Amino acid sequence: MGFTLNSVVPWGRSFEEYVAMFDMTDEDLALRILGCGDGPSSFNSGMNKRGYTAISIDPIYQFGVEQIGKRIEETYGDIMEQLNNNREDYIWDTIKSVEELGKVRMSAMREFLADYEKGKQQWRYLADSLPSLQFADGQFDLALCSHFLFLYTKQLSFEFHHMAIAEMCRVAKEVRIFPLLDMEGLPSPYVAKILKELQRSGYTVEVQKVPYEFQRGGNQMIKIRASNIENTDMENRDVLLSC
Ligand SMILES: C[S@@+](CC[C@H](N)C(=O)[O-])C[C@H]1O[C@@H](n2cnc3c(N)ncnc32)[C@H](O)[C@@H]1O
Repeated sequence: MGFTLNSVVPWGRSFEEYVAMFDMTDEDLALRILGCGDGPSSFNSGMNKRGYTAISIDPIYQFGVEQIGKRIEETYGDIMEQLNNNREDYIWDTIKSVEELGKVRMSAMREFLADYEKGKQQWRYLADSLPSLQFADGQFDLALCSHFLFLYTKQLSFEFHHMAIAEMCRVAKEVRIFPLLDMEGLPSPYVAKILKELQRSGYTVEVQKVPYEFQRGGNQMIKIRASNIENTDMENRDVLLSC
């Protein structure tokens, strides 16, 4: 069965949240960046406004602006109710209340919707899905994944995660994934296993604390780099990835 919009609960974070979640410096922002599963976040729009370049992929980009906008309206109330019921799972210091959170998220999603059609024409929003991407080896300097991998530990297998991360490593020199928690706020059991597999395949892997914590305990990302990437030709990289 194909991907349907009804299976998605669109919820998008802001450019500023991405910068904090991935601890990005000005030098990082100037890199060729791929956002995997960016959905209705305003990351891509924020990058573009500031003169930087990012390509975002997500299966929802096969749909038009009206369809995505309608789905956001349809699901907003349910998400707010769930957040209200689970308030204690989050830290309310930067964002002070569920109401304020709703405003922040809606503002990010409105910015996304306003940018979406122009961004599609400029090939900044591409319909594509992990674990198999349309890009060439090493096409990006940095690939990011916010609130998709590890978050859906219950729904997506270890094999899916392993293949998806190997694919991100194929298309980018460095990969960052945030958070390392599942939907229940528990550390994903996949993280340790993935780190071990990647290290065995010759990657340098680092768990790094970041200046962002909203889901309680969700303040770490993983950073993955091919060891001595400059000296690694593509033939050797394929061997590294075939773990
Ligand atoms: C919780 S949202 C996160 C959106 C955004 N990254 C953020 O942090 O605000 C998860 C996103 O993953 C996308 N997604 C679902 N399956 C995917 C796949 N196979 N590959 C890439 N993205 C996928 C969904 O469409 C959705 O937009």
